[in-house]
Amino acid sequence: MQTEIRDSIYGDNLEVMEALRQEIVTSIKTLGQSLEMESGLSPVDHCVSRIKSEESMREKCRRRGLPETAASALLTIHDAIGVRVVCAFPSDVYLVRDHLRDLPGFEIFEEKDYIREAKSNGYRSLHLILRTNDGRAPAGCALLTPGTPRAGGFFVEVQLRTISMESWAALEHQMKYKKEPSAKERLIVAELKRCADELASTDLSMQAIRDLILEDRNAAR
Ligand code: GTP
Ligand code: MG
Repeated sequence: MQTEIRDSIYGDNLEVMEALRQEIVTSIKTLGQSLEMESGLSPVDHCVSRIKSEESMREKCRRRGLPETAASALLTIHDAIGVRVVCAFPSDVYLVRDHLRDLPGFEIFEEKDYIREAKSNGYRSLHLILRTNDGRAPAGCALLTPGTPRAGGFFVEVQLRTISMESWAALEHQMKYKKEPSAKERLIVAELKRCADELASTDLSMQAIRDLILEDRNAAR
């Protein structure tokens, strides 16, 4: 039987993409460790990352009506490289954001703050799209549309959220929204929204307690 070997939608860029993924993750983990040494509390609970699989990237291109090319996958779509940072408290999310803003070789291309402004279903998270600005750019896709040069660069999607936002998003992800929801489905949606708001409020209370503990400890020194 002959097996068809299809070229990767990412062309020859996979090795660089993997290096970028590791670079971001290592830098976040190092930040977490150094802050933990200072205060005994780590702002980063854990970090997960992935390169979007060949199949789901091709599926996303088709869904968006884009040709299945490296240019679509790496320039038009911005989550080929994805990192999720799960933090202890809401203020830690912004601390990691500030760290990423100052990361050499990258700039923040887009920021969507679904923590300040939660989605209507209750989803909370800070989404960043980072872009390399040090000359590292995808090979083989310099032009998006013929005659329209576009600044190169690799994109990395970083989702930052707290542990409670993470467990909420994992549960909500199981929901299959229908055009005509049943009474039971409407109840689930309402309960999810209520829980999201309660968790957000508890996150802030816990953060206030953490601040009091740190304040107290510093005063005793
Ligand atoms: P894509 O990048 O094409 O996905 O669309 P977008 O840029 O409009 O989306 P956005 O930045 O709002 O969200 C990107 C990712 O965040 C999604 O692929 C999900 O992983 C996550 N996300 C966004 N909204 C929700 C939500 O309501 N629930 C959950 N569980 N995850 C969400
Ligand atoms: Mg997106």
